[in-house]
Amino acid sequence: MHDEPGRTVSIWMSENIPQLPPISTGAHADVCVVGAGIAGITTAYCLMKEGRSVILLDDSQPGSGMTERTTAHLSNAIDSGYLDIERLHGRSGARLAAESHTAAIDWIEKTIKDARIDCDFLRVDGYLCAASPDDAQHIKDEWMAVLRAGLSEVEHVTRPAGPLAKNGPCLRYPHQGQFHPLKYLAGLVKALQSGGCRAFSGAHVTKVESGKQARVETSQGCVVTADAVVVATNTPINNMVAIHTKQAAYITYVIGAPIPAEAIEQALWWDIQDPYHYVRTQRHSFPDGREELLLIVGGEDHKAGQADDAERRYGRLETWAREYFPAMGAVSYRWSGQVMETVDGLAFIGKNPGDVDNIYIATGDCGMGMTHGTIAGLLLTDLIMGRECPWASLYNPSRQPVKAMGEFVRESLNVVAQYTDWVTKGDVEREEDIANDQGAVLRDGLTKIAAYRDADGTLHTCSAVCTHLNCIVSWNHSEHTWDCPCHGSRFDRFGKVLNGPAITDLAPVKRKERTPT
Ligand code: FES
Repeated sequence: MHDEPGRTVSIWMSENIPQLPPISTGAHADVCVVGAGIAGITTAYCLMKEGRSVILLDDSQPGSGMTERTTAHLSNAIDSGYLDIERLHGRSGARLAAESHTAAIDWIEKTIKDARIDCDFLRVDGYLCAASPDDAQHIKDEWMAVLRAGLSEVEHVTRPAGPLAKNGPCLRYPHQGQFHPLKYLAGLVKALQSGGCRAFSGAHVTKVESGKQARVETSQGCVVTADAVVVATNTPINNMVAIHTKQAAYITYVIGAPIPAEAIEQALWWDIQDPYHYVRTQRHSFPDGREELLLIVGGEDHKAGQADDAERRYGRLETWAREYFPAMGAVSYRWSGQVMETVDGLAFIGKNPGDVDNIYIATGDCGMGMTHGTIAGLLLTDLIMGRECPWASLYNPSRQPVKAMGEFVRESLNVVAQYTDWVTKGDVEREEDIANDQGAVLRDGLTKIAAYRDADGTLHTCSAVCTHLNCIVSWNHSEHTWDCPCHGSRFDRFGKVLNGPAITDLAPVKRKERTPT
């Protein structure tokens, strides 16, 4: 067992999700899906509906990665904006992007009805708002791009009435959606279990091999063979380099606070600040039957492992939220999540570059994990069933970022710069300077040590060298994780891997603790 990927608690985490049994033996199926977040579970569900035998593996319980840390906006308003999507993927690409995200929301709505999933699904409007009065022209240009992408119902609202109205015009996207992501996953998992899908937790996958019969190995020595394997682990654990040069991990922050229902329209809001803010509401029930409406506000993103100032970021989020939503009560939730941003604004879904035909990946949520995860289920099912999918080339993981060369070079240089951590000082000079229940990186000769002092004062040490491609990890004071600044691997306090692309733990280091003099 290991810690969950973070200490903070999201509003969704109180939901009871069906627990999966541990894997204890090898097995065979038509398809093995690795990763029980929204992408993996949707893929398993779609393939099961097609009559395929499916084995679903996760090293923890369903939804316990980044799906339980989302804010679950269901939207076809692409995060990076249609102007950018059109620039990077052309007009036809922008139309396919709009079509696929619209189809994902429709599919979720239909599946909720078909499988009778009670998950607070609502159709709501979405508002893309100016961040300052200077943004009026940009909003108008974005509207033109949205219309060219085929979203003809999107309106330009010159004098909006909503909370972000003081900054000028906004775009209104009708027929967006929101739901409770863990209630939704719980419903899909129940459907999987009753439909005969074999789903297991505690399966830490250490190797994925293509071939006539693909092989998946777990750290317990269990081997699953399958005609096809789907790796849907937030960021792929079976791809060392190719994908990780084209996407970057960002941490995003969220607060939740009660708000009177009459003070707010139930809708989705986004502004166009960089990083942008995102807002929704959620009805929340207490065990004693009381209910309240929570305002959920996110933003303040930064590259994973490259900042450790969560308190300040939560504080700025609250200040921003109080300016636009003055009726908001005291903050009752604070949590963070990790987003994989691709250099061209859309996910990578399809065959894993470099593998023969039967290994597939889904990654690069780009802050739209719920719709991209659902698109993954639909698209990968088509590919595995041998059908054409009109979205396949748009999301092809082998696509080259020709028109996103600026973003690609910027992210690559940022990663290269992280290797200078090898020659810098540690966070503290002496291990005695590490407070109880905190961690810090120590210099140890030519290398660095990740040292965590537990609540009882015992020091736990391991190598600070990330097991993916040797960057130096950083301590995350808020989530109590070791975060890699290069490609987003995360490890728990004791060095156990939580999030890829690393698949092995930080190497243990025996160190004799010095007695303070
Ligand atoms: Fe790539 Fe750590 S995630 S070096």
